[in-house]
Amino acid sequence: MSPIETVEASLREQPATWLVTGCAGFIGSHLAARLLSLGQRVVGLDNFATGHRRNLERVRREAGPAADFLFIEGDIRDLSICRRAADEVDYALHQAALGSVPRSLEDPLTTNAVNVDGSLNVLVAARDAGVRRVVYAASSSTYGDHPGLPKVEDVIGAPLSPYAVSKYVNELYADVFARSYGLESIGLRYFNVFGPGQDPAGAYAAVIPRWFGQLLAGERCGINGDGETSRDFCYVDNVVQANLLAATTDREDAVNTVYNIAYGARTTLNELYAAIRDAVAAEYPGVAELPADYGPFREGDVRHSLADTGRARERLGYAPAVDVATGLSRTAAWFLAEHDNERASNA
Ligand SMILES: NC(=O)c1ccc[n+]([C@@H]2O[C@H](COP(=O)([O-])OP(=O)(O)OC[C@H]3O[C@@H](n4cnc5c(N)ncnc54)[C@H](O)[C@@H]3O)[C@@H](O)[C@H]2O)c1
Repeated sequence: MSPIETVEASLREQPATWLVTGCAGFIGSHLAARLLSLGQRVVGLDNFATGHRRNLERVRREAGPAADFLFIEGDIRDLSICRRAADEVDYALHQAALGSVPRSLEDPLTTNAVNVDGSLNVLVAARDAGVRRVVYAASSSTYGDHPGLPKVEDVIGAPLSPYAVSKYVNELYADVFARSYGLESIGLRYFNVFGPGQDPAGAYAAVIPRWFGQLLAGERCGINGDGETSRDFCYVDNVVQANLLAATTDREDAVNTVYNIAYGARTTLNELYAAIRDAVAAEYPGVAELPADYGPFREGDVRHSLADTGRARERLGYAPAVDVATGLSRTAAWFLAEHDNERASNA
């Protein structure tokens, strides 16, 4: 059995209680759905700042009526809510945050309040409730202006945005909580996660869902810069796998550290655009020749990003199972089906 199969089998045999903060969000809802499918008890916490009730409905639908799922609507900036959510929890998967580099440049105060103060509340609540381990969403933005590729965990640069600062501060606090209070934690530095259910709307939408949304509306997609900017796009199932492995590992040298969680391959924005446009054109041929709309480079963006996933592979047994092309075709199928449903319900 592979490491993740072993973990899943043992969780099925001995269910645990999991807190998923940011449960109504993109990644949080995938985590909750997988845990419930493994027969786990899940407590979800979210204030719907950027998450959606439709994601919770999807989780409930997939899990079925027998699922042991408690949802708490609340804000991680409120310590008493965090305490309530952490009560009797074995593992906390902390995903709640305000994402987006541009959002943080426009409103650094709110990004800091949620991502730093809110995360500190989650750590305090987890410590006091005796949670076994906190696995938290860290970010590749922590590499900042360091030009080295691929990115290795111990070599970071100066942060390029308030968002990057906030995510790095999470790592510093997690480390101090391990040293000072013995609270176990693992930070997962996600690299450009994508998949079904990611929000295509709004000024701060990530590039993949935004482009699906725009092409399905017959609109042109904007590319910041010349399109040769590259990213290590990671399908959400790989992120779910990493969270389960991180929460349950019993290797001593695997805890109280951070890991790159990515697929480990570089895709340029031009390649990404062509793949998404082709996938949409398979059903809507009108977009087959639609060119992208090239604009200026965006403030705070790094030119290239690529992860070295060696540490996660070696210590956690992480083996990303879904490559970018397969992930994109699954994501396309989801966006196309959603679009069909919307059209049918508006007809
Ligand atoms: N998606 C990516 O590519 C990526 C990359 C690096 C790191 N991350 C991190 O992963 C985590 C999940 O990201 P996502 O892509 O699912 O984003 P998302 O916006 O879909 O999910 C975040 C969730 O947190 C909730 N939330 C925000 N503020 C809150 C508050 N004050 N109290 C309670 N809940 C609150 C939102 O409502 C939302 O449901 C975040 O911590 C993000 O910073 C994501």
